[in-house]
Amino acid sequence: MTIIPSGAALGAEIQNVDLKSVSDQAFKEIHQAWLDHLVVRFRGQQLALEDLIAFSRRFGELDWAPIQETGRRFVEGHPEIYVVSNVIENGVPIGSLGAGEAVWHTDMSYLDNPPKASMLYAVEIPPAGGDTHFCNMYRAYESLPETLKQRVSGLALKHDGTYNSGGYVRQGVAATDDPVSSPGVYHPLACAHPETGRRALYLGRRRNAYIGGLPLAESEALLDDLWSYATRDDIAWSNAWQAGDVVLWDNRCTMHRRDSFDANSRRILYRTQIKSVPGERA
Ligand code: SIN
Repeated sequence: MTIIPSGAALGAEIQNVDLKSVSDQAFKEIHQAWLDHLVVRFRGQQLALEDLIAFSRRFGELDWAPIQETGRRFVEGHPEIYVVSNVIENGVPIGSLGAGEAVWHTDMSYLDNPPKASMLYAVEIPPAGGDTHFCNMYRAYESLPETLKQRVSGLALKHDGTYNSGGYVRQGVAATDDPVSSPGVYHPLACAHPETGRRALYLGRRRNAYIGGLPLAESEALLDDLWSYATRDDIAWSNAWQAGDVVLWDNRCTMHRRDSFDANSRRILYRTQIKSVPGERA
């Protein structure tokens, strides 16, 4: 097994490994590489959904996938699998997020206990577009001026549960654009990573975000300021997908966004979500 850092602020490729048969020693190295590089990519994998689920389970128990935009849980018998796709079959989308941009976000942070990691396996990829970009939220926190670090300490941010990153309203939720009253859960704005101990900014999604207890205008201004530290090219790395890629990221210290692509081409990926240990973050 060879680990090749991307040379950017995060990301590494792990070569010479078949995710269908990973020894305990190899798993230890993969786990450490993931903590060190925040996002790791494996190319040329050929996995059945059972293989993807089995490898994901090495990292911990799996969350069920969010309900897809059509209201269905896709992939009969595999509630852990979230389908990311623009493909429409018999008039029904087979997955979520369409072909548009998916804005910067952290997966499922509208839950009390969001997944610590997500793993995405590419099966069909369009000839152009649809790249996924990741940013390093340790670096975002570390680059804040001292006054801003002190300002965020002790503040909690509401992570909106109304819209997904493609801008679609979640199943069973009424559309609203009022950050104060929108549904969601609060998380500390900055928290220590339970495995590395490093502090990271935890921003979730910009839309409908609200810092508890602040007048809305003050919350908006502070959030705009914080987001400007998080979404900088110098703390980002991008994956230009190939079919057979598996990408694993740490939701506790990264965010990601996806470029749009031609809606007439096909893009199909399968995602698993690995549970956090409840209450492990401070
Ligand atoms: C996601 O946000 O999990 C999907 C990213 C992608 O479509 O590349």
